Amino acid sequence: MTTETLAVEAVRPGESAARRTDWWRDAVIYQVYIRSFADSDGDGVGDLPGIRSRLPYLADLGVDALWITPFFLSPMADFGYDVADYRAVDPVFGTLGDFRDLLADAHARNLRVIVDLVPNHTSDRHVWFVEALAAPEGGAARDRYIFRDGRGEHGELPPNDWESVFGGPAWTRTVNPDGTPGQWYLHLFAPEQPDLNWDLEEVRSEFLDVLRFWLDLGVDGFRIDVAHGMVKAPGLPDVGHDNHVEMIGNAVLPFFDQDGVHEIYRSWRLLLDSYDGERIGVAEAWAPTPERLANYVRPDELHQAFNFDFLGRPFEAASLRTAIDHSLATAGSVGAPSTWVLSNHDMKRHVTRYGGGAVGQARARAAALLMLALPGSAYMYQGEELGLPEVLDIPVEFLVDPQGIQSGDPSKGRDGCRVPLPWSEVSPAYGFGPEGSTASWLPAPSSWGGVSVAAETGDPGSMLELYRSALTLRRTQPELGAETEDTALVWLPAPEGVLAFRRGDGFVCTVNTGSSPVPLPVPGALLLASTDVSVAADRVVLPADSAAWWRI
Ligand code: BGC
Ligand code: MG
Repeated sequence: MTTETLAVEAVRPGESAARRTDWWRDAVIYQVYIRSFADSDGDGVGDLPGIRSRLPYLADLGVDALWITPFFLSPMADFGYDVADYRAVDPVFGTLGDFRDLLADAHARNLRVIVDLVPNHTSDRHVWFVEALAAPEGGAARDRYIFRDGRGEHGELPPNDWESVFGGPAWTRTVNPDGTPGQWYLHLFAPEQPDLNWDLEEVRSEFLDVLRFWLDLGVDGFRIDVAHGMVKAPGLPDVGHDNHVEMIGNAVLPFFDQDGVHEIYRSWRLLLDSYDGERIGVAEAWAPTPERLANYVRPDELHQAFNFDFLGRPFEAASLRTAIDHSLATAGSVGAPSTWVLSNHDMKRHVTRYGGGAVGQARARAAALLMLALPGSAYMYQGEELGLPEVLDIPVEFLVDPQGIQSGDPSKGRDGCRVPLPWSEVSPAYGFGPEGSTASWLPAPSSWGGVSVAAETGDPGSMLELYRSALTLRRTQPELGAETEDTALVWLPAPEGVLAFRRGDGFVCTVNTGSSPVPLPVPGALLLASTDVSVAADRVVLPADSAAWWRI
């Protein structure tokens, strides 16, 4: 073995990060929902300088990278997922200079930065769409999007039966310059998010150029929004039945997960690989099965895909085990690492999904230890390290998410998982903005001082300290992180409701998902537990809804 190989193998994430070429295989990546992370200028909206000011917190927490949700020029119909200019920073979030500064500071702290690319659709204010609307029917400028004549005698019906993810038809009719009703255009999301026509070479080359723009600035990768949506089935066939699509669903549909989409990722991978430092692509793809999802992470495509199967499981041993086995097998079959994720900006926070209150907290603590012990890379959503619940009682006058508004059902909205992070115990904005600022685009519940960073720091029983300890141990326990032949996950015999597995010969994780305590033989020395566990001689009693890490 050469010295070089030795050096590379010995490096753990966060140490000499620049030298690791496979950093993403075991990275813990922290999702920053920029609007709600930290506000530097007191306008009530989080921004790039806000993130920069909190980098010490993220470095201290022990994550390896951040994924920042879209901060590009946007009219904010979908809070940044409607991009009007892919190379410009929206003034509400800062400037390109702010981004450069953030990137430099993050890199200086060995934190990598992933940005969010939205290629399926643009904003309706993007210059291309403005040109398309102004162009005559059949004009070249319209070809960048998906315009069609309507059905019915006067074209008064949508061109097909596709429904928008946010509710209602996926088509909106345009008005001609002379005021007469015109063609329809496709939008799988809000009407302000027209779908691009990826059959067009110009669209493909434009996005390669956008990738280059951010790669040249030094970003470490891209999270690819709606990565399963860009290619539609030829002829745009009807679905033929009720096809309301749920966010992160797994239905088979003519507008999702078409084979043709993979050609795009092959060309992106060539570009990513032409840069130094392992720049990565991570797919937000809603695929019908884990097997279909694995197609996105074949060796010549993207590096990772979010594991929504894991996210969607109840806190139940057998169900979780099925997802874990399936994910490891399918990702492993193409040589990719699995990813693990419990929450994001589109889903109800997992404390609440797991039952809320004390039970939800206990389960979320256990789930964190489970997730961080599994082979592969883990994604955390801002605030999960504080144990934030979904905010279910935001006054209606504050609700702004198009999913809630367009579906006509506020309970479907995503505002409740996007409430700004509480940093201090000072109400009403809990340190979200600069000193003295009370502005916050969504109001925080009055109890949030108690779950703030300030309140939880140094409290040994807090969620924050649990995550800190777990992330520290993850770096020091040689078996944790990426799966090698020597550290593959091996299930151990366990009673019903309990998951027990080892990683290599040195590490064991036990999780009791049941509602009563379970006695087990002691697997080794206790490293960390999600709650107090009593170890007596060779027996341990695992409390309900708890997890523990052991050193053999
Ligand atoms: C993003 C959502 C967004 C949608 C449309 C998603 O998958 O995560 O937040 O509304 O794409 O861009
Ligand atoms: Mg601001």
